[in-house]
Amino acid sequence: MSSGRYRALDAISAASAPSPSPLARVHSLISSPSPLSTLRSLVAGGSSRRTLALVVGAVGGLLVVFAVVHRGQAHGLVAGLSSGRGRYGAARAYGDMLARNLRNQEPQTALSEQMRDGVDFLTGMLQSNQLLALINLLFLGKELGRTVIVPPLTAIHFGGQHRPFHLVYDLPRFHLLTGVQAIPMSLFKTPGDPDNVEERVTCWSLMEKYTGAVNAHAIETGLEEHGLYTDFWAVPAFRRSSEGAVLEVGPIIDFLRNRTAQLDWVETTRRELLPQKPLPKGVDAASVDPENNLKPFFDPLHGVPPTEDEQLMCVDATFYIGDSVPPPPYPQHVPLDPWRVGRAWKEVGQHLHWLPEVQEYADEYLQGMFGVKRTKDIPPFISVHVRRGDFKDFHGNTFTPLSSYVAAVEDVRSRLQDRLDHPPSPAEREGRPPLERFAVPPSEYAVVATTDEQPGSDLFAELDKLGWHVVDHGEMRTAERLGEWYPSMLDGEILSRGQGFVGTQWSTFSMLSGNRVEYWRGGIQVVANPRSGV
Ligand SMILES: *[C@@H]1O[C@H](CO)[C@@H](O)[C@H](O)[C@H]1NC(C)=O
Repeated sequence: MSSGRYRALDAISAASAPSPSPLARVHSLISSPSPLSTLRSLVAGGSSRRTLALVVGAVGGLLVVFAVVHRGQAHGLVAGLSSGRGRYGAARAYGDMLARNLRNQEPQTALSEQMRDGVDFLTGMLQSNQLLALINLLFLGKELGRTVIVPPLTAIHFGGQHRPFHLVYDLPRFHLLTGVQAIPMSLFKTPGDPDNVEERVTCWSLMEKYTGAVNAHAIETGLEEHGLYTDFWAVPAFRRSSEGAVLEVGPIIDFLRNRTAQLDWVETTRRELLPQKPLPKGVDAASVDPENNLKPFFDPLHGVPPTEDEQLMCVDATFYIGDSVPPPPYPQHVPLDPWRVGRAWKEVGQHLHWLPEVQEYADEYLQGMFGVKRTKDIPPFISVHVRRGDFKDFHGNTFTPLSSYVAAVEDVRSRLQDRLDHPPSPAEREGRPPLERFAVPPSEYAVVATTDEQPGSDLFAELDKLGWHVVDHGEMRTAERLGEWYPSMLDGEILSRGQGFVGTQWSTFSMLSGNRVEYWRGGIQVVANPRSGV
């Protein structure tokens, strides 16, 4: 039934790749009994490098599957892994973590059969702005000391296909950097398995508190593919911060940590029959029967409260909490407001790196773009994210003009020069690396742009006229060769390589790319003025 999306994804991959499709292999790998046991035996005894790479792939990202399928050999990947600092250690630590958290070496048909006794878990639903929601979910896991069961990512922009988290991000590396225990849902239950037991989980509804309605998107968010069905429970009136843009994360953590407070609150919701629909103007509250005025999807009288399950906690939406949401518009040349890079970004978000294979493809694309043979010969550049797509409909019926990006690039050049001339002290850098110095000054750095505009549109010619390099996935046939997920993964990786970054207002993709430039390279980020090119 729900495996349709996976089949669709298989079909897309199979359309270009040699058969069998990567996803089919991934599925057999995920559902095969081997990854954990192989890893354990590896940890216990010696193994060849190639086996090691296979194990790293099986557990950490199924890299070899892709390498084999896409390149015909895994050799480059093995080399890549061994040159990557701490990769082997990361895989081992991640495998140990899995063994501590999971009861069995293969996915089960019910979560309860796979969650190890004595370990507390947290899961949630990712819907819009999934990566920001995910960063917050992982941050909650860290704060609550719970292992995060990570739902699959959904391709909102190309047909809603799901992709397990570990096929996008480097989970072993993330675990090593943060200590956060994050495990893809597909290691608990195999998506689309007809034998999956249908399970219900009651989620604390942060979304109801923020938007007034629950996150009734379990299908889109991939939970139902795993046989997980959601019910919802009201949360207390958490206060807002950041000009009302978010529910403040601190009190939410306090509540989710405090069982007494939760039990008290459940009593309150039952007594007062919460959450109630707002009363229409002029209607007397005394004339309304609260039982008939409950919000849809809530049943505090007969429902199972989240407190019933002490081992698994669920929150229905994490996009709206803490400090990781897009800010109100800011004028050009104002650094992105610090509340966008709050604790969730600093402690968790910045440590999500793409799979090594994505980084390797980015190397190839950049080498091709600059006509160089070695990665270290790729010249320094400023990256620019020109977000178009549906933005015209949302934001004043106009795109950010190109002249604004041009002005912002010039601004980034002078800020970069200034930073090289006056390097911040380690204390001022707060963990960010120092900006690298090159043979050419920032005024001569190249510019590399990515855009979601359709291949062949005028924009490509206009960017070309500026002398900018443009990542052209149409010309590179990225989606056909590597799969539908690759254009945006590669764009994200390539943008993050900039010494400086120019983003598009309101784009969370821009925000994350800019943060990466800042936190991975010590670079400068600026948002192009959406109104006019001053
Ligand atoms: C937990 O909540 C209860 C009830 O609201 C409160 O009295 C108590 O102080 C809280 N405990 C902690 C550790 O915050």
